[in-house]
Amino acid sequence: MNQPIIELKGVTKSFGPVNVLKGVDFKAYEGKVTALVGDNGAGKSTLIKGLAGVQPYDGGQVLFGGEPVHLHHPKDAAKHGIEVVYQDLALCDNLDIVQNMFLGREETRVGTFEEGRMEVEAAAALQTLSVKTVKSLRQKVASLSGGQRQTVAIARAVVKQAKVVILDEPTAALGVAQTAQVLSLVRRLADHGVAVIIISHNLQDVFKVADDISVLYLGSMTARIATADTNPNDVVGYITGTKTMEVAS
Ligand SMILES: Nc1ncnc2c1ncn2[C@@H]1O[C@H](COP(=O)(O)OP(=O)(O)OP(=O)(O)O)[C@@H](O)[C@H]1O
Ligand SMILES: [Mg+2]
Repeated sequence: MNQPIIELKGVTKSFGPVNVLKGVDFKAYEGKVTALVGDNGAGKSTLIKGLAGVQPYDGGQVLFGGEPVHLHHPKDAAKHGIEVVYQDLALCDNLDIVQNMFLGREETRVGTFEEGRMEVEAAAALQTLSVKTVKSLRQKVASLSGGQRQTVAIARAVVKQAKVVILDEPTAALGVAQTAQVLSLVRRLADHGVAVIIISHNLQDVFKVADDISVLYLGSMTARIATADTNPNDVVGYITGTKTMEVAS
């Protein structure tokens, strides 16, 4: 197996007396979709917040492309091309699609926004992802469907040339057709060489899109397995703690 772009070794995180992450190992690879699953409160979001630099780990090691890195601030994560698409998406309803994609880092030239250039890049990002459902780039995000909003959030990561894209429950609020669209978008993102980490409670989605599955159970990584080598029944067992496996580091 080639080298993981992200590797966590024994990361820990506590809130007061509560140990939420108890020495977690985790790997993600370029060009692959890695699902992170586990029951409510297992520590998935806490693991992701550490990678995003918004809530640093207390201990353990983070390797990026094999090199130790410190992720103490969101800027550290951004510097390494790690982008998180949170469930609430953090899009601005009153802005249009292009403005949302470039939010906070508008292309400026002599003090004015280069609207034309941003529009071209936004269109290119959507084309890269073969997105055809968005009618106008100048549409306000408030008028988009849930799936389209998710699409804009994911395309924003493409615009930023992210190497690692983390999606926290991207399909939770979506209907059947939109879920299918977002999942195929996730697949295309990985096909472009991005390491995608997807948190999901929906095992049907996980089995459709993920190459590998990592299972958190009460703050410990209790399974890491190729999707092709397992089945939903077993994964439910790992999630609920009724089934265990040896996790090689
Ligand atoms: N800031 C915090 N302060 C105190 N406890 C916290 C904090 N953040 C998370 N926790 C606790 O850590 C545990 C793991 O939370 P986390 O949000 O990581 O779970 P999760 O796996 O993402 O769950 P869900 O599937 O419900 O989103 C929970 O018991 C939660 O109460
Ligand atoms: Mg969570």
